[in-house]
Amino acid sequence: MSELKKIADSFGRVHDYLRISLTDRCNLRCTYCMPAEGIVLREKSEFMTSEEIIEIASTFVEMGVKKIRLTGGEPLIKKDIVNILTRLSQLPIELTLTTNAVLVDKYIDTFKNIGIKSLNVSLDSLKPERMNAISRRVYFDRIMANINLLIDSEMDIKLNVVLMKGINDDEILDFIEYTKVNKVDVRFIEFMPFSGNGWDRSKMVSLQEIINVANEQFMSIQKLEEKANSTARNYRVNGYAGTFGVISTVTNPFCDSCNRIRLTADGKLKNCLFSADESDLLTQLRTGKDIIPVIQSAVASKKEKLAGMDSFETEQGKEIFSRNRSMISIGG
Ligand code: GTP
Ligand code: 5AD
Ligand code: SF4
Repeated sequence: MSELKKIADSFGRVHDYLRISLTDRCNLRCTYCMPAEGIVLREKSEFMTSEEIIEIASTFVEMGVKKIRLTGGEPLIKKDIVNILTRLSQLPIELTLTTNAVLVDKYIDTFKNIGIKSLNVSLDSLKPERMNAISRRVYFDRIMANINLLIDSEMDIKLNVVLMKGINDDEILDFIEYTKVNKVDVRFIEFMPFSGNGWDRSKMVSLQEIINVANEQFMSIQKLEEKANSTARNYRVNGYAGTFGVISTVTNPFCDSCNRIRLTADGKLKNCLFSADESDLLTQLRTGKDIIPVIQSAVASKKEKLAGMDSFETEQGKEIFSRNRSMISIGG
């Protein structure tokens, strides 16, 4: 790869991890992700076609991207998903997805055939009624059956648990106990603010609170080595098959080591999860122009931390996150 094409920002961070949202639709309606009133649905023509996704992804790979994560909404509801996965799997990258697992049984053979080795799955409760209430749909049994299918297939599975006060924060120990026999990495996630999700700090459970609950119950928790560019701090209860961790964007952001960029389903590049400013790659591509300079200038303007918010609670911070998209159309 030529140095000229490298995706570096003004703080020297090199971006080699691309998250592509395939759709902003979902078969669940999780309260922390999707506003209760729904989102404005875009015309089909505004979304990238499969060909455009492959073309843009290939350009990113030429620019040094080594890992691509497909997100949504829910990526597995995309009609052409098998073709997209197959074509992307031919690029020299690690290919993976974040999914709610509802449709995993339909695609597990494709995952195996094209060599997908890891998957991140959203699961906010181990209690059927609660999970169905949070997701406003009745899929708990199918989700758990599919998680078991993935575990039996020996895939590396991370379970994402967005903790919310008074909703599911009494399940921290149950989730840790789940790692006793199940070889999965549970990640508790601090609830983050996005347009329309009703965030306020009092609803969030912090890294420190989670660690306190774990320490009170377990005598022997081992801190695991930090992986480069990891979103989570990870731990293992001695002797347990799986691990648990915390993604602490609110109380301890990890922007120093950020290597991520995001492409929305309508072809806009976001240089940060929280950036309200976006760069239109799809129009550039459709008008026959080179997308590389647009990618480079988008990343060059990336702010040091949290899209330039000084805090989530100041007027300045609230103004930025309220102009950002809803989580459902960013893809995490
Ligand atoms: P890997 O590290 O590749 O396993 O995945 P991940 O943890 O980055 O991705 P996943 O889609 O499972 O997201 C888990 C949580 O991390 C979600 O709440 C995401 O919003 C959050 N997350 C993912 N990437 C970023 C990021 O670049 N910045 C911040 N602040 N949060 C992120
Ligand atoms: N705060 C933190 N994490 C969130 N996710 C979705 N919305 C939020 C939020 N408001 C997580 C889900 C999903 C991942 C892509 O993003 O757990 O697995
Ligand atoms: Fe990167 Fe923005 Fe996430 Fe910080 S908040 S880690 S800069 S994407």
